[in-house]
Amino acid sequence: MHSQRWTGIVVVLTLTFGVGTGAAAAAPTPQAHVVAATDAAPAADAARPPVTGGFRTFWLRVRGADGFLGEPLAPRACTKARTRCSQRFEGGTLTWRKGSRVEVAESRETSSVLVVVNKRRPLSPRTYAPPKLRTVKGSNQRLRPQAATALEKLMRAAAADGVPLNVRSGHRSYATQKSVYARWVRTYGKARADRISARAGHSEHQTGLAVDVLTRGHSFGTFGRTPQARWVARNAHRYGFIVRYRAGQEKVTGYSPEPWHLRYVGVALARDMRLAGSRSLEGHLGIAAAPGYR
Ligand code: DAL
Ligand code: ZN
Repeated sequence: MHSQRWTGIVVVLTLTFGVGTGAAAAAPTPQAHVVAATDAAPAADAARPPVTGGFRTFWLRVRGADGFLGEPLAPRACTKARTRCSQRFEGGTLTWRKGSRVEVAESRETSSVLVVVNKRRPLSPRTYAPPKLRTVKGSNQRLRPQAATALEKLMRAAAADGVPLNVRSGHRSYATQKSVYARWVRTYGKARADRISARAGHSEHQTGLAVDVLTRGHSFGTFGRTPQARWVARNAHRYGFIVRYRAGQEKVTGYSPEPWHLRYVGVALARDMRLAGSRSLEGHLGIAAAPGYR
């Protein structure tokens, strides 16, 4: 994931086939960009497959080779009729189909740490269960092993900074989520329940990558005012977590703010979102907002 370093300023002229929302696939568009430089030109960089058109626009928006996608591993591959294209990168695959936006393919894969689950993107299958879960040390809650290890590190760091956290809820099965949602509906009615709880088959908790953390002695209602919540908002990205439902994002994520709900996406993407100032996973990955169920 290194950036290009060449002597002087080099103007590179590439011919690109537009790939992206509504891009005309056939007409090559000349596109000049300036590569800034420094000293030597590493041969490995010169040999990298090109990233062009709509894929390039998307890749640069998510911090190019420095971002979670990293370097391209292969040139773009398209169907004969150029109605679908894809390109593999170190950290994921970009795909495009005619009439749609460029997407990270893994955002549709339920088992991927890059999956985006929301009211418009249920788990597939809806009853999905992660192949492996393990108990987070010091708790009775389970997460996917990667997320459990990352959370343990986060919790050690928080405790060392004087803001110990408790794990309230990790993985929830389809059946558990169904009863959790039903309880909220009984308590508050459907409209309000839908703003605070996912329907079964639509919860990140079911992926084993989401966890609710709290401060001892606090409930969900008061956690947001604790030093723990401030610590989490500032530091979760260092351990690969994002605060998934942030204030002001209800129309995008579909949920009112949940400063306790952390979603593991990996350190690279969590750091990218922090650096880019992105307030939702949907916004960062160019995915349609999901304010409600279809
Ligand atoms: N509270 C979150 C939205 C869930 O139920 O998954
Ligand atoms: Zn949660």
